[in-house]
Amino acid sequence: MKTRNFIALTMAGFFGLALMTSCGGGKTGDQAKTDSTAVKEQVATPAVPTAEQMEMGKKIYETPGKCITCHQANGQGVPNVFPNLVGSKFLLEQKVLAVTQVLNGSAKVGNKTVKYPAPMPPQLASKEEAVAVINYVLNSFGNNGGVVTMDDVKDVVVDPR
Ligand code: HEC
Repeated sequence: MKTRNFIALTMAGFFGLALMTSCGGGKTGDQAKTDSTAVKEQVATPAVPTAEQMEMGKKIYETPGKCITCHQANGQGVPNVFPNLVGSKFLLEQKVLAVTQVLNGSAKVGNKTVKYPAPMPPQLASKEEAVAVINYVLNSFGNNGGVVTMDDVKDVVVDPR
């Protein structure tokens, strides 16, 4: 009698286990699929200015009385008088403000990590030219500073002269 009961219990247990394993844990296959819509197209920002911008910027930079007069032919300025543009943190990291400074002068642009004897006077009245010359100095004299676009400076207001 005891043996029979044992067998009955064992069989019930076996069927129970068999039932559980056949029903649970099945994978549908959907989980293995990758979502192709998640792969987005990367929009590349141009890392260098156009040849036209560089040419226009160089012409402006080298015009007597403009940038070259103070920042010198090598962009290194004059110590304690005119800042070095090579590796300038302000130029490289605050491109929009650099364009603003070329348009409106440095007196209003709060870039005062170093005190210079006189502020930089306004240089140009055209945003297109200011963007070109900043792109030129961003990519000259050893600088490899990327670009600033017309769109970046769309909110900059040119002071009336
Ligand atoms: C009359 C001299 C003079 C001329 C011309 C001039 N600058 Fe400047 N520039 C300065 C002075 C002075 C400063 C520092 C101003 C300050 O911090 O208040 C300066 C600062 C700058 C800076 C910020 C650098 C830094 O690290 O602070 C940039 C960029 C710059 N000039 C670009 C130009 C460009 C481009 C031109 C030509 C379109 C130009 N400058 C023409 C005198 C001049």
